[in-house]
Amino acid sequence: MRINLIIISVLLLTGCFRGSKFESTPIHLNPNMDNQQKYRSLEESKFFEDGSTMRRPIEGTIARGMISDDYSYLSGKNDDNSYLMNNPIELTEEVLNRGQDRYNIYCSVCHSQVGNGKGIVTQYDYPVIPANLHDQRIREQADGEMYNTIVYGLRSMPAYGYQLNTEDVWSIIHYVRALQRSQNATFEDLPKEEQDKLSGTS
Ligand code: HEC
Repeated sequence: MRINLIIISVLLLTGCFRGSKFESTPIHLNPNMDNQQKYRSLEESKFFEDGSTMRRPIEGTIARGMISDDYSYLSGKNDDNSYLMNNPIELTEEVLNRGQDRYNIYCSVCHSQVGNGKGIVTQYDYPVIPANLHDQRIREQADGEMYNTIVYGLRSMPAYGYQLNTEDVWSIIHYVRALQRSQNATFEDLPKEEQDKLSGTS
């Protein structure tokens, strides 16, 4: 009886009961598969020929849920391979807000929040000059061309097709068009009453 009491109190004092909290890492008598070798993102790989741990999707593979048979929606091009002139997704407030959100995350670092190409990277010796999205040429380019610039990159601009899904790319384009309008607004774009206020006729 006494020996039992001693054993129980030793167990209690050393905290060997389920639910007890430990400060230090427990000793693993049988580590089994708790710790395994692994690669961390961006780590060098000795296994793959190109030395990169992070792998690109195999050419021609499509991730689950990403399939669509709408050629122009997915490629930004018409059947004859010319660029799609108009954004295939409908412009709604929700789409514009999503576009603004994604633009500010993915594009503004280079192109700035207003799209003039003076993003924060330009203050840190970024080696190339991001385009000013208000250039006449970019304002007039087909939505499908901008789609391809974003998805595949263009000259010194990196590709964003891996980070953004198709719907988001088209939403960003709607937002870039809104930015372009806002930076190139004319007197005629104002509602009638605002025009009257400014011209002093009311
Ligand atoms: C890392 C910096 C960087 C980011 C981020 C970036 N761009 Fe660019 N972008 C550039 C540079 C640099 C150019 C100029 C490319 C050239 O002409 O060599 C450019 C050019 C462009 C052009 C003009 C293409 C043309 O026809 O000449 C568009 C449109 C554009 N970017 C849109 C975007 C959008 C939308 C995003 C966000 C999804 C984005 N960019 C993100 C650097 C960036």
